[in-house]
Amino acid sequence: MILRLVGIFAALAILIFLWAFWQILNPPDSESLMPQREEPSEWQPKTIDMLDNEPNAELIRLGYDLITRTPEIIGPLAKDSENRFAGNMLTCQNCHLQAGTKPAAGSFVGVYKRFPQFRGRENKMGTIEERIDGCMERSMNGRKIPHASEEMKGMLAYMAWLSDDVPDSEQKKYKGFLSLKIPEVKADIDLGKSVFEKHCMVCHGEDGQGQRPNAEGMYVYPPLWGEHSFNHGAGMHRVITAAQFIKGNMPYLEATYDSPVLSDEEAFHVAAYINSFERPKKANTEVDFPDKKLKPVSTPYGPYADPFGIEQHKYGPFKPIMAYYEEEYHIKKTK
Ligand code: HEC
Ligand code: HEC
Repeated sequence: MILRLVGIFAALAILIFLWAFWQILNPPDSESLMPQREEPSEWQPKTIDMLDNEPNAELIRLGYDLITRTPEIIGPLAKDSENRFAGNMLTCQNCHLQAGTKPAAGSFVGVYKRFPQFRGRENKMGTIEERIDGCMERSMNGRKIPHASEEMKGMLAYMAWLSDDVPDSEQKKYKGFLSLKIPEVKADIDLGKSVFEKHCMVCHGEDGQGQRPNAEGMYVYPPLWGEHSFNHGAGMHRVITAAQFIKGNMPYLEATYDSPVLSDEEAFHVAAYINSFERPKKANTEVDFPDKKLKPVSTPYGPYADPFGIEQHKYGPFKPIMAYYEEEYHIKKTK
């Protein structure tokens, strides 16, 4: 009994000694005694009013103007018809919001350093100039801007300027769009219409044609379908991509990357609704994605490397198509 007590005391004494020794080696610093709280991220991307002493400030400014006033400088409103490269009335900023600085809106913050990159649509390594060609020919329903032109150099200078000081920890937040839990069901156009009437119509109009103060000016609220909109080969014409964009950005000024307004299902249905209308046709889309297995599942034009019909590629359900690619080709599709 006594022996056991002595043993316990000895063990305790050793523990206390070790603890004291540990404290001497590692004194608690005053900071770790402060209550801990998570610091919000302070980092913000550059804005154009911060452009002052850059040696290529003029070029960067041209890029900014092109991205925010596209139809006036290189689109249908340009005075000289030779400069009309964009075929519709959208600005780049209509989709790449806040001049390409809003998170979850395909932002240009960091983009310059991610190119060249592999592109499935062309099945090769692509430059950032070629990526801009893609949006010019599809999202802008127009033609390429010569790569050696001041206009192309300006856009690149602006994107490079936005990309040169981005901390690694911020890259992901600014890249691409929000992810979306893909619903099991086929997109429902009637449900999409009711979401549209409740959340979108006030700005984009009942007919989806947007609003502008006069027929000579730019749109304040851009059109979502019809002749002035993106063409059928554009990324925004894919229901999944459009739903991801809408989730993080629409209704405008309300939805943000960390507080979407619509549920994933609502974004999905309304994306299908706006993409159910007529829009300009891109020529030669059959040559897109030379390796058809790399085609995103919601690409609304064939041919495909699978037996599913065009209707299902347009509106889903997408899960069975994704399962097919995994089973047949061991490719995990996310879009
Ligand atoms: C109708 C919407 C829309 C418009 C207008 C638009 N884009 Fe895009 N852009 C997209 C979408 C959607 C993607 C991503 C496509 C994808 O995921 O395949 C994209 C991707 C890009 C990328 C690559 C981004 C990245 O993170 O890799 C660049 C660069 C780009 N666009 C530039 C432009 C420029 C410059 C203009 C104007 C001349 C423009 N875009 C107009 C929708 C648009
Ligand atoms: C408060 C007005 C407002 C509301 C409400 C609104 N939008 Fe928009 N939307 C805009 C504006 C403005 C832009 C262009 C943003 C820019 O240029 O900065 C835009 C851009 C878009 C674009 C990309 C450009 C294009 O024309 O294709 C899509 C797609 C879109 N909105 C869909 C929707 C959907 C779907 C809803 C409803 C869920 C919605 N919007 C609600 C104002 C609005």
